[in-house]
Amino acid sequence: MNTKYSDLINQTYYFPQEEFTLNKDNLKFHNIDLMKLVEEYGTPLKFTYLPQISNNINKAKNWFRKSMEKNKYEAKYYYCYCTKSSHFEFIMNEAFKNNIHVETSSAFDINIVENLMANGKINKSTYVICNGFKRDQYIENIARLINNGHKNTIPIIDNYEELDLLQAEINGKFKIGIRIAAEEEPKFEFYTSRLGIGYKNIVSFYKKQIQDNDKLELKMLHFFINTGINDTAYYWNELVKCIKVYIALKKECPTLDGLNIGGGFPIKNSLAFEYDYQYMIDEIINQIKIACDEAEVDVPNIFTEFGSFTVGESGGAIYQILYQKQQNDREKWNMIDSSFITTLPDTWAINKRFIMLAINRWNETYERVLLGGLTCDSDDYYNSEQNMNAIYLPKYNKEKPLYIGFFNTGAYQETIGGYGGLHHCLIPQPKHILINRDENGIIATEVFSEQQTADDVLKILGYDKK
Ligand SMILES: Cc1ncc(COP(=O)(O)O)c(C=O)c1O
Repeated sequence: MNTKYSDLINQTYYFPQEEFTLNKDNLKFHNIDLMKLVEEYGTPLKFTYLPQISNNINKAKNWFRKSMEKNKYEAKYYYCYCTKSSHFEFIMNEAFKNNIHVETSSAFDINIVENLMANGKINKSTYVICNGFKRDQYIENIARLINNGHKNTIPIIDNYEELDLLQAEINGKFKIGIRIAAEEEPKFEFYTSRLGIGYKNIVSFYKKQIQDNDKLELKMLHFFINTGINDTAYYWNELVKCIKVYIALKKECPTLDGLNIGGGFPIKNSLAFEYDYQYMIDEIINQIKIACDEAEVDVPNIFTEFGSFTVGESGGAIYQILYQKQQNDREKWNMIDSSFITTLPDTWAINKRFIMLAINRWNETYERVLLGGLTCDSDDYYNSEQNMNAIYLPKYNKEKPLYIGFFNTGAYQETIGGYGGLHHCLIPQPKHILINRDENGIIATEVFSEQQTADDVLKILGYDKK
């Protein structure tokens, strides 16, 4: 009988996969023996495998290049990194090796952009696309960037008032974009996104407030479909609506030459993940091309703002199973040495699924379990609601520690989890390491931050204030 954990994974999925392989009993990720990391750094452990960021950026650039060639699409593609998915300097340093652009969402992002510029990571030709609802500090920072000469800054108008606020602060002429408020998926609780300006009002807004204003140069139409870029009737329907608005606006506004299709590329969230990126891009480029040709307008430059896709597949978390609690004859709770709520908050908040695999003991028999976090919150768990099926792991054995890994967790989890701050039940933030490869492919690791200490937490709580 095939009763080993490795048999189960082999029977359920295609295994091994490009990034997941086995070294006897242990899992390797991009050829890195994860048990070695555990031995060196302990658990709980968060890691970032930096080369994956450049890998994904270059994959997307190639897909768009191929599609544009195939469709004889005569305009450019600009890959922007959506900083809100992970603001860390180590992420930016890797991402901006690849001649890309940046999308910002709030005031402090501009300070990051200025820092990157001062350090030569980005330059005058880098587009800075400023999204988000703009309050005073954000307006002031955007204006400073433009007034200091960064002409490729494009604030995207999210609400009518922003035009006046920006004009009051920016000297001379500047570029702008407009965000279309997408219609939400039919099953959503509301109809229209609160972000941006409704479809029907875009052209009239342009005519009333932009067309005759010498200070403003409209360059971009922006939209973001909340559910991501998926092969669904809803996505294609929204895309076509946005292209129609682009064409209507282009007919009024000759300076308009950019269409920003936002973020939303999915990433691998299970070993059974299937998504044909090239097909989706081909279809998008094809639809835009057909519509523009029919309307006899030039095709726009395409901008994307991938967050998850840029950084998600670089991150992971490793936990030890500390103990098994059998609460009745069917439910066995494997308790991890950290918390899901605080270290992978999307598992708790939006039932998000990540790839979860045992790190060691692959050749031992398995059992069905639930995974519990250390906080006293009954919602601090990970089970088949998030996972694709029930969770199976090598059998708990007090004498043989079991480690598990969550993969492709690199986007949003640190900021939503409040990195470096206070966490539920004061469960400390795990140690975080960076993994890189040199030009010969040799792996190097370094600690980015140690596990949070009691002193760190008490300081935040005000205990050391006299
Ligand atoms: C305007 C905008 N662009 C890009 C993104 C990035 O989305 P994703 O991480 O799904 O690529 C978001 C995410 O919320 C967004 O709001």
